[in-house]
Amino acid sequence: MKTACIFDLDGVIVDTAKYHYLAWKRLANSLGFDFTEHDNEKLKGVSRIESLKLILQLGGQQLSEADFEAALTRKNNWYLEYINTIGPEEILPGAFAFLQSAKQLGMKVALGSASKNAVLILQRIGLLEQFDAIVDGNKVSKAKPDPEVFTKAAQELGVDARQCIVFEDAVAGVQAALNADMHVVGIGEAKVLHQAHVVLPNFSGTNIEQVVQSLPESA
Ligand code: BG6
Ligand code: MG
Repeated sequence: MKTACIFDLDGVIVDTAKYHYLAWKRLANSLGFDFTEHDNEKLKGVSRIESLKLILQLGGQQLSEADFEAALTRKNNWYLEYINTIGPEEILPGAFAFLQSAKQLGMKVALGSASKNAVLILQRIGLLEQFDAIVDGNKVSKAKPDPEVFTKAAQELGVDARQCIVFEDAVAGVQAALNADMHVVGIGEAKVLHQAHVVLPNFSGTNIEQVVQSLPESA
């Protein structure tokens, strides 16, 4: 039985993935190299620290510990500049109605995000009160694809892993859900998220009952 939904935040509930990309690109440019949208796919779902390590690898650069910390702060300040102006209009198409459909069916809903800015974003888009549990980047020590974020969310909800359906837009997030032994629905492109049990372009025109039916028996 599937009794709980765990939603990733950036790129699933809200359109913040583009702001992460813009802030990282600005940082890469300030360090003297470019950062493409193609490279950005590898960063989706990945923690801030791991993201910077990957970017520096791509740019063939190394930073001292102090400069590394300063770069993290600069990126986050640029990111906060972008998200400080967002509101409910940035909720992705169909996401709120989908969340409601799960709650109406009596399912528990949790957030499972790598972001340390998750609560701020949920406040800005008016969805903070909708979740039964919130596990974000402040509560976990291991980055996706480690299953920690989703396993903790299931624990906070008081449900077993096999009862959970995870919704993810990132390759690392899909892998984290599989590593947690959960059902996983990819939100985005099937060719990128092919490891997910089911992939949807977005939440428009669907609801939780249709998604549950579309999951393969073996999932
Ligand atoms: C994830 C994003 O949700 O959160 C990543 O997909 C981001 O791109 C990560 O790096 C950490 O976010 P934050 O807000 O703590 O820098
Ligand atoms: Mg995401």
